[in-house]
Parts: sequence; C-alpha cells; structure tokens
Amino acid sequence: MQPSRGFWLALPRPIVALSPMDGVTDVVARAIALRHGQPDLTITEFVSVEGLVRGAIALLEDLRFIPSDRPVIAQLYGTDPSAYRVCATIACALGFDGIDINMGCPALTVANRGAGAALIRNPDLARRIIASVREGIDDWGLGKSLARTVDHPRLRRAIAERVARTETRGRTGAIPVSVKTRIGFDSIEAERWVADLAAAEPAAITLHGRTLKQMYSGTANWDAIGRAAEHLRGSGIVVLGNGDVADRREALARCRDYGVDGVLIGRATIGNPWAFLGQEATVAQRLRVAIEHAELFATAHASRPFMAVRRHLHGYARGFAGASELRRQLMLAPDATRARDLLEGALVVSAAA
Ligand SMILES: Cc1cc2nc3c(=O)[nH]c(=O)nc-3n(C[C@H](O)[C@H](O)[C@H](O)COP(=O)(O)O)c2cc1C
Repeated sequence: MQPSRGFWLALPRPIVALSPMDGVTDVVARAIALRHGQPDLTITEFVSVEGLVRGAIALLEDLRFIPSDRPVIAQLYGTDPSAYRVCATIACALGFDGIDINMGCPALTVANRGAGAALIRNPDLARRIIASVREGIDDWGLGKSLARTVDHPRLRRAIAERVARTETRGRTGAIPVSVKTRIGFDSIEAERWVADLAAAEPAAITLHGRTLKQMYSGTANWDAIGRAAEHLRGSGIVVLGNGDVADRREALARCRDYGVDGVLIGRATIGNPWAFLGQEATVAQRLRVAIEHAELFATAHASRPFMAVRRHLHGYARGFAGASELRRQLMLAPDATRARDLLEGALVVSAAA
C-alpha cells in the first residue's frame, strides 16, 4: 500500500508556508501568521522524541495548536526509532495533520548526538526513523491506545487532559510523514541524499539550500535544490525549497525557476506575517499586530517569560523614524502592558507624522 499523502495532495500549488523555528514559531506566532498572512500550512517547533518519551511534559507546550488552524504538522527530532514510534502515536492522538522529521538542524547539541542534519550521514537510520514514525501512525490507526504505547503515566495523563480540554479529535486515518533537511553535510550531496530518502517514500521533502557545515552562513544554494527537485520529479514526493526567501513574490519565482512545488519561509516572516501575502504592511498595521502578538503571547503562555516574544516585537518595529529607539525599549519591556504602552505611543507619533 502507498504511504499516505494526506493533505499534501489537496494543498493549492505552489505551496507557500511557514518554516518551523525553535523559540520563534510557537502556537501564538503561528496563529498570528495565519490570521494576517495565511501561509498554506504551519509546522510546530521541533520536539525531542527522546525527551518526550522520558516524560518531559513541558515539551507538550511546543505541540499546541489552535484546532481551526489547519493543516498543522508536528515536527520531531532525535535518533531513537522506538521513541519516534511512540511520539508518532502521540501526534495522532493530539490531532495533527502530519508529522515532519527534522533532519536539518545543524546545532551541535543536536547534530553531535547524531540527530538533525547529522542524519544526512546516516541514511539507514534516517529510513528506519521514517518507517518507525509510520508504525506509530499505524498503531494509532489500529486502535492501540495511549495506555499501551506511552509508558510514562504523567505524560499519558497530560496528553489525555489536553485532548479533553481542547476537544481536538485524534486522527482517524493515516497521516503523512515528511522530512525537512539540508542539501548536504559538509559538501553538497542533495541528489544522493534525496534518493536515499525517497526509498522510504516520504510524502514531502523540504530542502534548505545550505549544508550542515554552513550553519546559517553564506547564501542558500537554490541550484542544488533545483537539481534535487529534478531528481525527484515523477516520484510523487512533494518538494519544497527553503532558504533566504523574503516573501510570497520571491517564493513564486523560486518555484518557477527551480521546479519546486512550494517554499517554506522562515526568518523573513518574523514580525512580518504579510510576507506570505507579498504585501507591505503600513507602520500602523505593524504596530497594531505587534500589540496583538504581545497580548496573545501573555494570555497563551502564562508561565513563559515575556522575553520570548521580544524577537517578534523587534521584527514589527521597523521602517519608521524612531523605530530603533522603540526596538531598544521593547527589548527591556518586562510584560505585555509595558509593550502595549510603548507600541501605542509609537502609533500616536506615527499617525501625527
Ligand atoms: C531561530 C531558528 C530556529 C529554527 N528552528 C528550526 C526547527 O525547530 N526546525 C526546523 O526544521 N528548522 C528550524 N530552523 C530552520 C528554518 O526553518 C529554516 O530552514 C532556515 O531559517 C532557513 O530559512 P529562511 O532563510 O527562510 O529563514 C530554525 C531557524 C532559526 C533561525
């Protein structure tokens, strides 16, 4: 039987979606992006499968989503196939539309353990992980309950409580498995690598046009992405490109020029959800959405330090006289009330200008 392609088949082409960013694309940032920019799909921050199965309940916070915001994908990382299997069942129970496996993170804390982009050097394990995620999805589809899959009692309870509270329905059919990765380890080997991955039939592959060694330096190599996309043509695998794309207009040009089915946009959307529409927001729009973002963050994450939203506020406060002073003050704002005061002050000044 062909592995599920799920929502990937139904998405409009070209796909322009939000790239996952740890510490950035939390449930609030994804909700704001959907409200103001309408990306075609969103992906959670990456979650450690080993951490989750060990009972790190705090990680469930990264797997929150608003039930109306679909399709939404859970992103997992790690090296242990059996932990992936359990987490795949958890993602189904939580109601995710798909599961993405991170094979692209270059951070030493991740890659030195053999996870993230280090999997580019370990195609056997990469394929075993994809198969294990599918087994976990099948476990759920065959009615294997969380009581039989999740060993950790507190984690099991936390998941059950979350499902009851949010009234999200566990998935009924098989959900698709995708991979997000890079074009190579220390040199470009995208064609070899996507051929290795294709043997495990993921529904989609996203390629960031940098090697692990490059981390975030240099520029994304779209020629390498294009060659890999060409290699996968006819395979039925959806290919997304990623790296250094500023907005929807650029994303559409990349799809046309490099033969990819879509693009994930990351950093350019911080404080700028309008990037998905290819529109320039007015200063007033930016400042108003910054207030909305700060307040939603404070409501949704009562226990998270406000500091975690400052990066977004920094992103909104651009493009007008006094923006750099506002950014400086926002970096010191201890809470949403202070951030609102500062942003409302800037709104009054910008309206008068
Ligand atoms: C702060 C930060 C956190 C990131 N976290 C993740 C992550 O959790 N999962 C992932 O697949 N990629 C992650 N990435 C990589 C981005 O999704 C994306 O591949 C990269 O930023 C290049 O795209 P861009 O130029 O559009 O930002 C992260 C990037 C940044 C800057």
